[in-house]
Amino acid sequence: RKRVVVFISGGGSNMLALVRACAAPDFPAEIVGVISDKADAGGIAKAEALGIATFTFVRKDFDSKEAHEAAIFAALDTLSPDILCLAGYMRLLTATFINRYEGRMINIHPSLLPLFAGLHTHQRAIDAGVRVAGCTVHFVTEGMDEGPIIAQAVVPVLPTDSADTLAARVLTVEHKTYPLALKLLAEGKVSMRDGRAVFTGPVASDETGT
Ligand code: GAR
Repeated sequence: RKRVVVFISGGGSNMLALVRACAAPDFPAEIVGVISDKADAGGIAKAEALGIATFTFVRKDFDSKEAHEAAIFAALDTLSPDILCLAGYMRLLTATFINRYEGRMINIHPSLLPLFAGLHTHQRAIDAGVRVAGCTVHFVTEGMDEGPIIAQAVVPVLPTDSADTLAARVLTVEHKTYPLALKLLAEGKVSMRDGRAVFTGPVASDETGT
């Protein structure tokens, strides 16, 4: 089973969805640690309650972004992960970090990328008047929310939606889509080559989220 470390900044519901998926005996990955950049991230308490190793590195406790990441690297070295999953980790990583884990680090974003990358994605979707929204799991590359796409899922946008009601609807499909993408990566059914997601062998549409 591939060793996975999950990065969070908040409630950690996607982290929990990954933990639950990994509990299935035939799932090809296990969560070996959770790293947060927020001391009060709700997900940290949830991971601890499950007996998962947790680490918190608050940015302001370090002089520089590099020093902050060096502390994270040291923790990662003790965990020897095969795969990193960013799950609501609201911090941009340096090129050094991204290159070190290129092809082995994935992120979930609550929009149908390439639409609405970055912050305030739900309000921007509502303001644009789109009738569908969703989530995307992608490889992490240097461009924010720009990496090759592994899996996506779609939900309707209702005329009555606020950013909060749309976020809640998208979150329900995030919890299904993130484990699908992790499974594909852990099984070696998807990899990143020349900046593209390359799928190997038969991959059914329900394995990539649709
Ligand atoms: C999720 O909706 C995730 O897609 C989003 O933050 C939320 C975290 O929720 N991530 C981003 O916006 C990254 N740009 P969670 O802590 O309950 O998983």
